[in-house]
Amino acid sequence: MKLYKKTGSKSLIANNNSLPETRRSFLQKLGLGGVLAGLAGFGWQSFRSLIPNVLYEPPQRFKIGLPANLAEGVTFLEDKRLYVFKEGRSFYAISAACTHLGCTVKYSKLNQPKQVEIGGEKKNIPFEFHCPCHGSKFYAEGTNYAGPAPRPLQWYKLEVSPDDGQLVVDMSSEAEQNFRLTV
Ligand code: FES
Repeated sequence: MKLYKKTGSKSLIANNNSLPETRRSFLQKLGLGGVLAGLAGFGWQSFRSLIPNVLYEPPQRFKIGLPANLAEGVTFLEDKRLYVFKEGRSFYAISAACTHLGCTVKYSKLNQPKQVEIGGEKKNIPFEFHCPCHGSKFYAEGTNYAGPAPRPLQWYKLEVSPDDGQLVVDMSSEAEQNFRLTV
């Protein structure tokens, strides 16, 4: 013999049916959301792959002013890590990037010029470059002579801009150690 409780039995059945329904619907929505998120991610990846990864670097060729306005001796262009020298009407430029691991070398004026032999030639050196990171040293014209630096400092070409007469440094163009621009 079965006993049925009349009061509340209808609402109890209705609740039992609606609970799984709500849950199913929630799970369906969740699944749909996941699929849409996946598609959006895939779409973004596909779109991003069409855009090349470009590293914007500062220009390698730039003007540094009129030759007459440059100070006699050495000028350090900090943002370019470059030493520019003016000796009368002659100009040349040496990189401040150490050839070991790229630290910035410091210009160091000697109390008195020292005589050294570079490439079988005797030279009077009035200043040097010293690297603060691992102690490399370079003669005035960039030749490495102490520490771990494997190569001389790099020289760059200079030229005069035809449109306004300013000095132009071309850091994409390496120059010989005896390079001089005479204006
Ligand atoms: S970076 Fe200059 S000596 Fe190492």
